[in-house]
Amino acid sequence: MNRRYRKTVIAGNWKMNMTASETKKFAEDIRKIMPRAKWCETLLCVPACNIPVASKAFKDLRISVGAENVYFEEKGAYTGEVSAEMLKDLAVKYVIIGHSERRQYFGETDQTVNKKVHAVLNAGMSPIICVGESLEQRETGITNEWIALQVKSALFGVPADKLRRCIIAYEPIWAIGTGKTATAEQAGEVCSNIRATIRSLYGARVARSVTIQYGGSMNEKNAAELLAQPDIDGGLIGGASLVPEKFVEIINAANQE
Ligand code: 13P
Repeated sequence: MNRRYRKTVIAGNWKMNMTASETKKFAEDIRKIMPRAKWCETLLCVPACNIPVASKAFKDLRISVGAENVYFEEKGAYTGEVSAEMLKDLAVKYVIIGHSERRQYFGETDQTVNKKVHAVLNAGMSPIICVGESLEQRETGITNEWIALQVKSALFGVPADKLRRCIIAYEPIWAIGTGKTATAEQAGEVCSNIRATIRSLYGARVARSVTIQYGGSMNEKNAAELLAQPDIDGGLIGGASLVPEKFVEIINAANQE
């Protein structure tokens, strides 16, 4: 973390978990243990249908509500999709874009990710852009090249003033939901390469202002060590964000002096 230049953001990604009633119950439970606001910004990205319920339940808890996906077209005949304007109208500030599960199961490509990034930025919200390598890519030794390409494609056409609103989440695919975490050094190295890629595109001042998260089995036990890396400015957390006690411990780790 480097709080001098950029914000620390702890975000949960609930994926396809939690009904509306479970969301309310989670809010009641976390209310009892939620720490006072300090440095880190906290949010939970929830299934689209539960955004209104979550916004109400987390309103006075210092937890913002984010979305897990969006469609890039403004409106029209796209059955089942949700537009950026619809999310914006629900007071959503953050939208996860290009999660590896969406790339793997729903055919998202670097091109659709780029279109979604523009849609989210044009609506005045912040995209959390996910990038990450497979185990095979890591073992082949092409992690940094692969991720630089994903970052450059996602940010294609994004001007510097809008880049300040973007968050990049480094999520090695082999570490998602597997209980296998990248070591702090591995994660820190890729995150600092992501910053170097941004620096090569936008210059040093802009690059140092961008929040880069790590995601992939981040939990209450490994959060402090991962967040101690200078280029890891937060976490995108799946499983551990579904359990109030675990999520709060990760927030506490991000709030350490
Ligand atoms: P886990 O924390 O469950 O590994 O999920 C990470 C993730 O995919 C967050 O977007």
